[in-house]
Amino acid sequence: MSLNEVTLNLPNYPMEELAKIRQRLIDKNQKVYDFGTGDPKIPTWEPIRKAMLDATTSISQYPSSSGCPELVKAIWTYCERHFKVQPKKGLDILATNGSKEAIFHISLNLIGRAGGKKIIAYPDPGYPVYRSSCLFAGGTPYPIELNEANGFQTEPWKLPKDVQDNCAALWINYPHNPTGALMEESHLHKIIAWCKEKDVVLLADDCYLDIYSPEWDKTGQRPVTPIMFTHENVIAFMSLSKRSGMTGYRSGFIIGDQKLMPAIAKARANMGVGTPTAIQKAAAVAWADEDHVAERRKIFAKRIDLAYPYLHKLGMIDTKPSATFYLWCKVPNGQDDVEFCLRLAELGVIASPSQWLSEGIKGFVRFALVPDDKDTIEAMEIIAKYLKK
Ligand SMILES: Cc1ncc(COP(=O)(O)O)c(C=O)c1O
Repeated sequence: MSLNEVTLNLPNYPMEELAKIRQRLIDKNQKVYDFGTGDPKIPTWEPIRKAMLDATTSISQYPSSSGCPELVKAIWTYCERHFKVQPKKGLDILATNGSKEAIFHISLNLIGRAGGKKIIAYPDPGYPVYRSSCLFAGGTPYPIELNEANGFQTEPWKLPKDVQDNCAALWINYPHNPTGALMEESHLHKIIAWCKEKDVVLLADDCYLDIYSPEWDKTGQRPVTPIMFTHENVIAFMSLSKRSGMTGYRSGFIIGDQKLMPAIAKARANMGVGTPTAIQKAAAVAWADEDHVAERRKIFAKRIDLAYPYLHKLGMIDTKPSATFYLWCKVPNGQDDVEFCLRLAELGVIASPSQWLSEGIKGFVRFALVPDDKDTIEAMEIIAKYLKK
């Protein structure tokens, strides 16, 4: 065999499947309402774009893989503002090329730690890279099912004992893609305590941390992340993709235990993950500003307010999410989720079936609220009409 088993056995990446369906509809000149990929098309705040253009130099040189000084300063100011943490007081940061690559690469640093622990546990449904990165690094992925019964909460203490004993790292992701669930602070403390007891590195995928209900802006409430409460054996993964509408720029950072980060920095210097300097300078502008993020929160909340009543009335969703821009809905009438999504796609409405966002969870569909207000309403009308037939 010329390629290894992991490479040969990879499932199709769900977003690529959706892109193919989308293209087929466009080729047929059909109007497309694309709720598939979580990539909203809201223009990036102009000063960010300007900062990137202004920083484009005539001489091209390798970028810093850990972050240029302006970016490092802006990230620390953001972290002090929101998490009340300071540089070199237990935590360290590293710039990343978006969070996807950092999520992928961290497995290479963790599999085999603590005398050979090989398991990485992660939420299911969830971001598919938790699993694939673990497999590529030679580890054993272990999905933890999140469902309505457990309130979409990660409960690692319920895993089989041998899994708990061999767990190298645990992923959590709150606000959660795809359900929009949040984690209570008290639950997070239980997770932190479990990680300490079991010697598990806690990995927090925090790329939706700034996408919460604009109502919270009035009270200063925010989703929680472990770095607010502990430094030990914890790494949080932050991103500008959703926060600042910069999916195409590729910029984020990791913040974690000062004892782990220097070795991770050395490893990352081998990985070719330095973000171009012009983008790092634009990222510094993005982390320094909160107003454009508050505007984005309002846009997403409005879309939730528009779509939710339709889907609620159709019996597809019971609770309005207070974070992210996803609606995780039950497929009506016990229909298969893939079939349901393919039928909707024929009508021009693209959404993701749960089987594509999980390891076999059936009966749900995710709407990423990417289309604008008008298209959101039009698409909801199409769904309502289809289901009333
Ligand atoms: C849960 C989750 N984690 C990580 C990512 C990666 O985001 P990025 O690499 O753009 O920072 C995404 C992207 O959709 C996501 O939904």
